[in-house]
Amino acid sequence: MKIVHVASELFPFIKTGGLADSVASQAKTLARFGHKVSVIIPGYRAVMEHPGFASARRVLELLVELGDRDVRGEVYALDLAAGETLYVVRRDEFFDRTYPYGVGTMDYDDNAARFIFFDKAVVEILRLLKLKADVVHCHDWQAGMVPVLLRAAEAQTGTTLALSTVLTIHNIAFQGVFPRREFALTNLPDEFFNVEGVEFYGQMNMLKAGLVFADRITTVSPNYAREIRTSTYGAGLDGVVRSRGGDLVGILNGIDTEIWNPETDPHLPARYSVEDLSGKAVCRRALLEHCGFAPEDKGPLMGMVCRLAHQKGIDLVLGSVDALAKLGIRLVILGNGDRDYEAALAEAREKYPENIYHDSSHDEALSHLIEAGADFFLMPSIFEPCGLNQMYSMRYGTVPVVSNVGGLVDTVTDIEEDPENGTGIVVRPDVRGVIRGYRRAVDLYANRELMARAIRNGMRRDFSWEKAARAYEALYREIV
Ligand code: ADP
Ligand code: GLC
Repeated sequence: MKIVHVASELFPFIKTGGLADSVASQAKTLARFGHKVSVIIPGYRAVMEHPGFASARRVLELLVELGDRDVRGEVYALDLAAGETLYVVRRDEFFDRTYPYGVGTMDYDDNAARFIFFDKAVVEILRLLKLKADVVHCHDWQAGMVPVLLRAAEAQTGTTLALSTVLTIHNIAFQGVFPRREFALTNLPDEFFNVEGVEFYGQMNMLKAGLVFADRITTVSPNYAREIRTSTYGAGLDGVVRSRGGDLVGILNGIDTEIWNPETDPHLPARYSVEDLSGKAVCRRALLEHCGFAPEDKGPLMGMVCRLAHQKGIDLVLGSVDALAKLGIRLVILGNGDRDYEAALAEAREKYPENIYHDSSHDEALSHLIEAGADFFLMPSIFEPCGLNQMYSMRYGTVPVVSNVGGLVDTVTDIEEDPENGTGIVVRPDVRGVIRGYRRAVDLYANRELMARAIRNGMRRDFSWEKAARAYEALYREIV
C-alpha cells in the first residue's frame, strides 16, 4: 500500500513529545513491512538545521491559496530508509522559529495560518507529486484539516488524490481552536462552518474537522479510546467522538526497541540486560553524581521525564514534596514547559536539595540516563492517551509508578494486584494517591525479591511496534 503520514513532529528531526516518537516508529515499521511510506512535516528551524537533513533535495515549489493571499512554499525530500521518504514543507515566515507552537504556554498568534497552510501544502504535494495514496494518515489537530481539504480539492479538480483517510488522536486536549474569522483561510465554502463540520461553539476547531471528515479515527490506547467518549476525558469533543463510535479504535503505541535498548544504548555509561543488571548500578551512580546527590544507597531514586504541563500531574508532585522528603526518596525531574511549574520546582529543590533535582533543558542523553539509572519512574498523569516513558522505563528495569488513567492502565500491571506478573505500582491521580505510590515504592524497594520480580517482568514485556503496525495495516486494508 502507499501510505502518507501527515504530522507536526517526527523523531529525530523535531520533537516536543511522544507524537514524534510514535509517528517515526510507525512509519519505519510499516516501510519494513514492504509498504511505500511517505511522511510530511513542516520545515521548522530544527528540521532544516538537522545534520541528517543536509542531503535533502528540493523537489517542488508550491503556491497555496490562503484566504485572500497566494502563499509560496517549497518542498524538500529525503529518503529515510528503503521505502520511506520524508517530505518537508518549507516556508520560513511560518516555520523558521525556535519552538514549533509558541513560547512557554503562549501559542503563536498565527497558528491557524501556519497549520492551514501546512495542510493545504499536503494536498498540493499529493496532487503535484502524484503520490496516489491508498491512505492519508493524519496525526493530531495540526493535520486535522487535511481530510476535508483533500475532498474539497478532489471535487474541484475532478481527480482522486487519496483513497481513504485516517485521523489519529494523540491527545484530545489539544484541538487547534481558532476564532471564526480564521475559517476564511481555508477557502472552504461557508456550509462547512456548521455543527456537522468544523464549527465548535462558534469557533473553528481543526481536530474536530479531522474527527468529522476522516474515514476512520484511531487513538493511541484502547483505554483512552473508551475514556474520550466521556465528558471527563473528551475535552468537549466527547459528543463528536461518540457520534463516530463505530469508526473509532484504540491501538496501543509501541516503542522503538532499537533506540530504547539498555543492551546497546550509546547514551549510557554501562549497558545491561535482564540476565545481568550490574550495568544498571553503574548508571544509577552516574545519575546520582550528575544530580549532585550523595553516592551512597539511600533508598529509592525516582525519575521523571516530561513536559511540565497540568496533564503530567506536576501539581500532584509539588503537593507531595514534603512526604517525599520525609520518606527519604530522591527525585530527578527532566522537563520544561510551564514557567510557573519551573519556578515551583526550583523552589522545591531549594527546600529539599538532597531530595529533588530539576533540569529544564531538552536533553535526549539525560532522558536515557534517567530511564536507566533510576529505581522507579514516576508518571502520575491526570490523563495520558498512551504515554511512552512508562514503557521505556520497564524496558530499562525501572519500575513505573503511574496513575490509573489512559494508556498507563493498558501497559502497567500492578504488582500488588498481580504479584506474579506485576510490573509496577498503579495509584489514583491525586495527592493522596501519589503519596501512597511513594510509600509503596519504599516498601517494594525494601522487598528485594518482589522488586527483582517487578524489574524482570517489565524487562521481559514486548513493547515493540510490530503489533501496533500490524493493527494499522489491518485497518488500512479494511478501508481501502
Ligand atoms: P507526551 O507526548 O504527552 O509528552 P509521552 O510519554 O508520550 O508524553 O512522550 C514524551 C516523550 O518526550 C518521551 O520520549 C520523553 O522522554 C520525551 N521528553 C519529554 N521531555 C523531555 C526533555 N526535557 N528532554 C528529553 N526528552 C523529553
Ligand atoms: C501524546 C500523548 C501521549 C502519547 C503520545 C504519542 O503526546 O500525550 O500520551 O504517548 O501522544 O502517541
